[in-house]
Amino acid sequence: MVARPRFRGMPNEDQAKYWQGKGGEHWVSERDRYARMVAGFGDAVVEAASLSPGDRVLDVGCGMGPTTFAAADRVGPSGEVVGVDLSGPMLGVARERAEEAGLAHVRFEQADAQVHSFEPDTFDAAISRFGVMFFDDPKAAFANIAAALRRGGRLAFVCWQPLFENEWIMVPVAAALEHVPLPEMGEPGAPGPFAFAEQGRVEDILGSAGFKNISLEPLELPMRVGSDADDFVAFAKTSDFADTLMEGVDDATAAAAWASVREALGSYAGPDGVVLSGKTWLVTAIRP
Ligand SMILES: C[S@@+](CC[C@H](N)C(=O)[O-])C[C@H]1O[C@@H](n2cnc3c(N)ncnc32)[C@H](O)[C@@H]1O
Repeated sequence: MVARPRFRGMPNEDQAKYWQGKGGEHWVSERDRYARMVAGFGDAVVEAASLSPGDRVLDVGCGMGPTTFAAADRVGPSGEVVGVDLSGPMLGVARERAEEAGLAHVRFEQADAQVHSFEPDTFDAAISRFGVMFFDDPKAAFANIAAALRRGGRLAFVCWQPLFENEWIMVPVAAALEHVPLPEMGEPGAPGPFAFAEQGRVEDILGSAGFKNISLEPLELPMRVGSDADDFVAFAKTSDFADTLMEGVDDATAAAAWASVREALGSYAGPDGVVLSGKTWLVTAIRP
């Protein structure tokens, strides 16, 4: 959606500010909703990484750790899972969860995966659920991740297919656009949720970073975005959706736009809540 303001300085500084601040806090406060919305995509990543007991795993952009913990289950106490993330608030939740569960083979580091000095040739697998689309320099980031993998190490992640093909975002956006102007879409491929939407670009980035056997499989799953349309609207009002579409819009227009969103989402409500589909790429590759 709208390109975020760029800050000069260290790599990914604008993303670090966002995930350390508003973005991270939003994910923490909506943690149960996000967990339920995207759980199936994490299961697919962990499965695709073919983890075995004793493996060492790197979880890139681990957030509050759901995939870190799922990987930890697979590798068992003889293995180790390291979650890295930019977001202090999200890692705070992850660390609390690890402590509560008494998991000694899980570790979290607040770091930028693009530049962090990982121990080289160490990990059997690197995984990510929606944590790899935010790099300023994705080729450098994936080269850094590749260097952390041992030879033959596996990469598995999910990223979104194009915004326009994703019902979970397009249904509410299209409804709001009946009333508000189309926002600036930003440069295609700019850091953000849809940066890896284009298959050829992902193949090029991973190939340049030294990965082989690169595969992108479409993975479409239902996403429960709210218990009902009102619940979704309350959530959307605190999210980037509101910042992007409603910024500078007068109150009456905004109210009409939210009413449209409510009505559109209502037609997807059923006994399991409001369910829309999400289209992703399940990406796998090997460090040769
Ligand atoms: C959409 S959230 C996904 C979080 C988690 N993987 C999940 O599925 O619940 C994206 C995550 O990527 C992290 N992230 C973005 N850029 C990063 C970077 N350069 N290094 C490490 N983490 C990053 C953010 O802080 C955020 O937690």
